[in-house]
Amino acid sequence: AEIMKGKFDHFMQKEIFEQPDSVVNTMRGRINFENSTVQLGGLKAYVQTIRRARRLIFIACGTSYHSCIATRAIFEELAELPVVNELASDFLDRKAPIFRDDVCIFVSQSGETADTLIALRYCLERGALCVGVTNVVGTSISRETHCGVHINAGPEVGVASTKAYTSQFIALILVALQLSADRISVAERRKEIIMGLNSLPGMIKEVLAMDSDLRQLAKDVLFKEKNLLILGRGFQNATCLEGALKIKEVSYMHSEGILAGELKHGPLALIDETMPVIMIMTRDSIFTKVQNALQQVTARRGQPIIICNKDDPEMPSGSRVIPVPKTVDCLQGIINVVPLQLLSYHLAVLHGVDVDCPRNLAKSVTVE
Ligand code: G6P
Repeated sequence: AEIMKGKFDHFMQKEIFEQPDSVVNTMRGRINFENSTVQLGGLKAYVQTIRRARRLIFIACGTSYHSCIATRAIFEELAELPVVNELASDFLDRKAPIFRDDVCIFVSQSGETADTLIALRYCLERGALCVGVTNVVGTSISRETHCGVHINAGPEVGVASTKAYTSQFIALILVALQLSADRISVAERRKEIIMGLNSLPGMIKEVLAMDSDLRQLAKDVLFKEKNLLILGRGFQNATCLEGALKIKEVSYMHSEGILAGELKHGPLALIDETMPVIMIMTRDSIFTKVQNALQQVTARRGQPIIICNKDDPEMPSGSRVIPVPKTVDCLQGIINVVPLQLLSYHLAVLHGVDVDCPRNLAKSVTVE
């Protein structure tokens, strides 16, 4: 069937707005809320092998790589396995050692990205168990891996990936939940996450309802700027990197995701009253460290726009905020990325960019 934009001006916009549904499609039939269990059919026969792995190695490019960063901590916490994230290109450049008892997980929307596919063949040759996490069905990566998960986000047309990111994020969380089913010490934590997953669609809708405010912010504050730094840490590292990638891909503005823990090791030199900054300050266990980063920025007269939980009383008065609903720490990045997707979309439109086909980029990069 032909895919239509419907009431939307661009596929990217349509796909951003589809997320309350696409995240449900990723979860459909896989979660039992009664007894807090997760069953991904494609992994069922492999759970024990994966749990006995020497390490989990996630291999991907672009936005798909960011979904691996976003979920690394929860794999470490729930599965208690060492986790390594690899950019496929760099992994191949290094000819990194791979062992028979490694489990390699290839995350790719298209299932055809050349670097990821070549890395898969490299790992297959070395005898590792290879798992695919893909969106498009029947692709090279889903066929050549031993087992896998389809994220079921539906066709993504916009070159800049949006709904595939949130669905990859959820699919990877589901894998971590499935792997940790019999660890009693994380039973409560698993329950909390499963409840959180259930309320994501409504929260994404709440953020989408701020669309006109975000368009205004893009127009009045960010449009005229040449740079944009996006700062955060912990679970929000990935959100910073993904938000900055969206902005550079479709608006051609220079944007960098900065992991706030590294601020004082260099990036702080960029901060003054003229440098546009977005800070991600939703609440979790490292909130005081993020507050510390905010102080470092404001002490240099930076005036960050702050993504925070709505009604947070501790946000500095006078600062611009983007208020978002609060969810479980490891899921918060799914909510927080949405305003950044919308901002990048509006910046692109304001700059007159062909949003669905930005210059020099391709949806699926099938050459090394
Ligand atoms: C291209 C696309 C990106 C995507 C990356 C990885 O660069 O423009 O949006 O994240 O490839 O693609 P994959 O299909 O492997 O997820």
